[in-house]
Amino acid sequence: MSQRTLVLLKPDTVRRGLVGEVLRRFEAKGLRIVAMEHRTIDGAKADEHYAEHVQRDFYPPLRDFVTSGPLVALVLEGDEAIEVVRALNGATDGRKAAPGTIRGDLSLSNRENLVHGSDSPESAEREIAIWFPGL
Ligand code: TYD
Ligand code: MG
Repeated sequence: MSQRTLVLLKPDTVRRGLVGEVLRRFEAKGLRIVAMEHRTIDGAKADEHYAEHVQRDFYPPLRDFVTSGPLVALVLEGDEAIEVVRALNGATDGRKAAPGTIRGDLSLSNRENLVHGSDSPESAEREIAIWFPGL
């Protein structure tokens, strides 16, 4: 079933010059880019996006990180896009993510792990409304 999912290329991806490399993997897989924007977010936006995590111990440094510079937000569309993007992204901790995944090949960090992908249809709907209202 065709789905849409919200993806972030977080500030480490932009700083490290990996936007093209990461987008290439999504496009090569067959996912379609239906919205994309380069932007820098403030703390309030980070809190909205990461609402499920704002009380966690790891959140303050995560908030600093995602607001530390420009990121690229996009909506990808395709068959089972939510699960497919999560599989391409790999496990959260880049040190443990499998080789062949974006995080497994390109990240050595549990925080600076390059990408975000919505984790369910409900999250995708919520996150797309936050980043691309009206889409
Ligand atoms: P989470 O939603 O658990 O991971 P994912 O991005 O794979 O859905 O966590 C959100 C982000 O928070 C994660 O990408 C990186 C950061 N994070 C930490 O900095 N430390 C942690 O211990 C965890 C679990 C996540
Ligand atoms: Mg998550």
